[in-house]
Amino acid sequence: MATAIFYASSTGNTQRAAERILENLGGKEVVAIYNVADGNIAKMSEYEKLIIGTSTWGDGDLQDDWEDVFEEFKKIDFSNKTVAFFGLGDQEEYPDEFLSAMGTLYEVVASQGAQTIGGWSIAGYYHDSSKAQDGENFIGLALDDDNQSDETNERIDTWCERIRSQII
Ligand SMILES: Cc1cc2nc3c(=O)[nH]c(=O)nc-3n(C[C@H](O)[C@H](O)[C@H](O)COP(=O)(O)O)c2cc1C
Repeated sequence: MATAIFYASSTGNTQRAAERILENLGGKEVVAIYNVADGNIAKMSEYEKLIIGTSTWGDGDLQDDWEDVFEEFKKIDFSNKTVAFFGLGDQEEYPDEFLSAMGTLYEVVASQGAQTIGGWSIAGYYHDSSKAQDGENFIGLALDDDNQSDETNERIDTWCERIRSQII
């Protein structure tokens, strides 16, 4: 298996998204899946292709389990990997830091010259700013279960269809 999803989730939203992404891409036969809270971060090195998911907490901060492994995460060599990101946030309550944790993880990976894929248009969102935004796009899939939960499944399905050929 060349592809793995790594995610962490405090209340289950990112976990649900990760599981739907997994199903879209062919299930556990095709893509490995790890909850970062289980202490598997070192396994990241074993995969050529990664899908990385986080929610944002505090005011633009990493989710706690990502925070715990962040130093180890920064030591991983991403230079020859293909990496896609997805993030969960709340654009209503945190309009200035919407999905910022996704941007924090992205910065680490992109600064090492990894091939990053899976950008997503900011059209359809009403936040003000985000560390996960580059011009008119988010650097990964943007999900907001607090305010737009009815759009989540369709967004995931569309995104998976777009990245499938590059990530499997
Ligand atoms: C105390 C608190 C702080 C939050 N801070 C942010 C934030 O800075 N930016 C953001 O986009 N979302 C923020 N959120 C929203 C969560 O990221 C969102 O509810 C997400 O779906 C949680 O996903 P999880 O259950 O996978 O952790 C915050 C939520 C709470 C309760």
